[in-house]
Amino acid sequence: MQRGVFITFEGGEGTGKSTQIARLGEHLRGRGFEVVITREPGGTPVAEAARAILLDPELDPDPLSELFLLAAARRDLVERVIRPALERGAVVLCDRYTDSSVVYQGMVGGVGREAVEEINRLATGGLVPGRTFLLDLDPETGMERTRRRNGAVGGRSRFDEKPLQFHRRVRDAYLELALEDTVRFRVLPAEEDEETLFGRLLEELPEGLR
Ligand SMILES: Nc1ncnc2c1ncn2[C@@H]1O[C@H](COP(=O)(O)OP(=O)(O)OP(=O)(O)O)[C@@H](O)[C@H]1O
Ligand SMILES: [Mg+2]
Repeated sequence: MQRGVFITFEGGEGTGKSTQIARLGEHLRGRGFEVVITREPGGTPVAEAARAILLDPELDPDPLSELFLLAAARRDLVERVIRPALERGAVVLCDRYTDSSVVYQGMVGGVGREAVEEINRLATGGLVPGRTFLLDLDPETGMERTRRRNGAVGGRSRFDEKPLQFHRRVRDAYLELALEDTVRFRVLPAEEDEETLFGRLLEELPEGLR
């Protein structure tokens, strides 16, 4: 029996997912909720090891191999962190989840949506978020933000190297998914400043958290 609330954040590079998650986590903790913040791929030792492989610029797994690595990481995270937290009644905020695979490997990477959705179902045991925030932003702005951030703290990932065209396809694929499920998804205009964006997000929280 799941008592908690599962919220995921999706969107391209530099759209502000991590920034908004940190804010929401602080907000909800201040209101007395137990909040578990995690990210994909990652969040457990096994999954962080998979993340290191996935983000290594020296390695270049094809999209299907990438999908299996991600699925292994996702399975571990769901079983060890997300499901137990939800059973305790916590709010779980996850930075990327199944929709990232549907978009990056399935729709843009060419693995195909059905295959990805099937593997996602296996990996998660059918655990679907109660709400998914899609941070929607022009990829040029997102990449500019990422460049500025990385310039400040260092560290680049393999995905930062992809051409603008790739990031445009990612954006379109996400918007297509969001239109198909307007109950779960909320699309947020991520060109807004942090504060304004957070205000919009609060309005779209699921019942019980508002
Ligand atoms: N609404 C905003 N307006 C302008 N800049 C922002 C906004 N939100 C975040 N930023 C800045 O943009 C950069 C990227 O934000 P953030 O790391 O939250 O994005 P992200 O979606 O988590 O990116 P990634 O996919 O690379 O993890 C950071 O330097 C952050 O401070
Ligand atoms: Mg981030």
